[in-house]
Amino acid sequence: MVIRLLLLLILAIAQINGDNKKKDLTTENTRPIIGILTQPTPTVWLKPNRTTYLAASYVKYIEATGAQVVPIRMYQTTDYYLHLFNSLNGVLFPGGDLTDEYLFVAKLFYMWSLKDFDEIQKSFPVWGTCLGFEVLLMLTRSSTDILEPCQGYDYATELTFMPNANDSRLLGTSLPLNVKYALENEPTTSNYHNFCMRPENFSADPILSTFYKMLTISPDLERRTFVSTIESRRYPVFGVQWHPEKNAFEWRVNTTIPHTKDSVDVMQYMANFLNNQTRQNMNHFDSLEDELKYLIYQYTPEFTDLDKTHFQQIYYFYE
Ligand SMILES: *[C@@H]1O[C@H](CO)[C@@H](O)[C@H](O)[C@H]1NC(C)=O
Ligand SMILES: *[C@@H]1O[C@H](CO)[C@@H](O)[C@H](O)[C@H]1NC(C)=O
Ligand SMILES: *[C@@H]1O[C@H](CO)[C@@H](O)[C@H](O)[C@H]1NC(C)=O
Ligand SMILES: *[C@@H]1O[C@H](CO)[C@@H](O)[C@H](O)[C@H]1NC(C)=O
Ligand SMILES: *[C@@H]1O[C@H](CO)[C@@H](O)[C@H](O)[C@H]1NC(C)=O
Repeated sequence: MVIRLLLLLILAIAQINGDNKKKDLTTENTRPIIGILTQPTPTVWLKPNRTTYLAASYVKYIEATGAQVVPIRMYQTTDYYLHLFNSLNGVLFPGGDLTDEYLFVAKLFYMWSLKDFDEIQKSFPVWGTCLGFEVLLMLTRSSTDILEPCQGYDYATELTFMPNANDSRLLGTSLPLNVKYALENEPTTSNYHNFCMRPENFSADPILSTFYKMLTISPDLERRTFVSTIESRRYPVFGVQWHPEKNAFEWRVNTTIPHTKDSVDVMQYMANFLNNQTRQNMNHFDSLEDELKYLIYQYTPEFTDLDKTHFQQIYYFYE
């Protein structure tokens, strides 16, 4: 009996302690919405009116973390982009082909994110994948002429961590040991790029190396290294030259996309990291009606002709 009372008492105290430690939910956005840039459809796959597109793997990648997705359309007014910037909780710049329009829209979100961070201490996370990574470097450097052509297309590799990576937000203490082990020792990262930022060029550039930390390097197909993961020293800006969104969602045979459990763990960590960053931004649409006008549910992905692209499904946007 005494033991039972003691146990109840211990449980009660544990309960109170637990309650005290409960997170203050007012500081966490529990309804994050992440924008993903669309982009002009390459002419090789252009079917009538499919002027812009978004690979569905990026949408699934974000949705699987517990966030909703808004496709950020091309060729819209600045008011449209500003409205989304003030309503969304973060943005992802996806892979693809560099176009003036993509660069133009990416620049708006990048500049506004930096401005809000400096002026009102508001964090609007910006994530770049592959082309998005390259565009981040171009925007920071104010030049499109900073990358070298390289052999980086359709292969998977491990990463080499830089000594300061353990001190970063992306690859620091929140990185589980098993994911770190996989990243460093197994070819979990999928590469689809024809341009590289060489570590020596990065380090020799005072603007880039002041703005970003180089967190990892990877070997290209000629065993020359390139910068593969970056994060801004000051701003909520992160970039990967590789493709974390493909591991669980792109299945074309005869590609090198890793589908091991460990590579999917890597993917999920990266996606969860971005989601977690966006939960610190409290933007929201003015109404659910307004939100619904922009959400991805307004569109339906198409199963794709696998001969022309390695994407399983693509959202096309008609003008
Ligand atoms: C493509 O655009 C033309 C001209 O705007 C329009 O008449 C046609 O219905 C569109 N086709 C599709 C499939 O949306
Ligand atoms: C990278 O650095 C090398 C050596 O200094 C230089 O020759 C090359 O032009 C640089 N590449 C770019 C794209 O700036
Ligand atoms: C990161 O690693 C370096 C050496 O590997 C060590 O000196 C430093 O204390 C580590 N920093 C953190 C935050 O763990
Ligand atoms: C994959 O590659 C093999 C060997 O080159 C080839 O026989 C097969 O047709 C390819 N499959 C597809 C779907 O392209
Ligand atoms: C999520 O964000 C919070 C607040 O910045 C941070 O303390 C936590 O470590 C993050 N968790 C992960 C897994 O990144």
